[in-house]
Amino acid sequence: MNYTIKTETEIKKMRKSGKLAAEVLEMIEKYVQPDVSTEEINNICHDFIKKRNAIPACLGYHGFPKSVCISINDVVCHGIPSKKEILKKGDIVNIDVTVIKDNYFADTSRMFFVGETNQLCKKLCKITQESLYASLNIIKPKIPFYKIGEIIQNYVEKNNFSIVREYCGHGIGSKFHEPPNVLHYKSCNNIFFEKGMIFTIEPMVNAGHSAVECMKDGWTVRTKDRSLSAQYEHTILVTEEGCDVLTWQKNEKIPSKFINR
Ligand code: MF3
Ligand code: CO
Ligand code: CO
Repeated sequence: MNYTIKTETEIKKMRKSGKLAAEVLEMIEKYVQPDVSTEEINNICHDFIKKRNAIPACLGYHGFPKSVCISINDVVCHGIPSKKEILKKGDIVNIDVTVIKDNYFADTSRMFFVGETNQLCKKLCKITQESLYASLNIIKPKIPFYKIGEIIQNYVEKNNFSIVREYCGHGIGSKFHEPPNVLHYKSCNNIFFEKGMIFTIEPMVNAGHSAVECMKDGWTVRTKDRSLSAQYEHTILVTEEGCDVLTWQKNEKIPSKFINR
């Protein structure tokens, strides 16, 4: 697989696009409330990104009609914002933001609760986020890439949830999706982390069975058994001794730089 190693100049640009993508998620939190439509949330994100001289990468990507993906409850990913879709108390919502700033992409998503939500929702989101965080502890040069999937799958299954197989993380840079594929389950390959690699990790975790299906709109992916699904995503840079979370948000209980000695 011909993945790229980013130059210092590219890394500088990706730090900026990563920061902007994180800021979109920080900014949008207060709008995720009952009675708000997903289209309104989409439009607020769109305007914020444009004001910062950046481009919402999802808009028009393979024909995707909106600027961010918004995926509620049993929607696993690629939910299309709509006037008709109104948030209600208890919903769990993923907002997935990809921006292009100065020709470089950054991609990140997190879960939000609409008002009070139940224990299962809270646990599912917590385990999903922790599975992503756990994988950050092992990233440094010369460690095999497949460790990410091993750690995430083990963590998720130990907690009696299931990991979606159909979608994976990806290299990212001057393109949205670059090699390598970053699998969130056990697999084998002969890639090792190298300083200057940039990729996403974005586990999708289901409360029930791992199977998913795509709806007739060609985008919206739901769990087959209609159980809840959660996802968190970060854009990660491999450094000399660990990794940097380029899309790190102020509210996160992890450092933005991991030293993994
Ligand atoms: N942001 C998604 C990812 O993590 C891709 C969304 S593609 C879109 O890779 F077209 F649905 F926006
Ligand atoms: Co992604
Ligand atoms: Co994404």
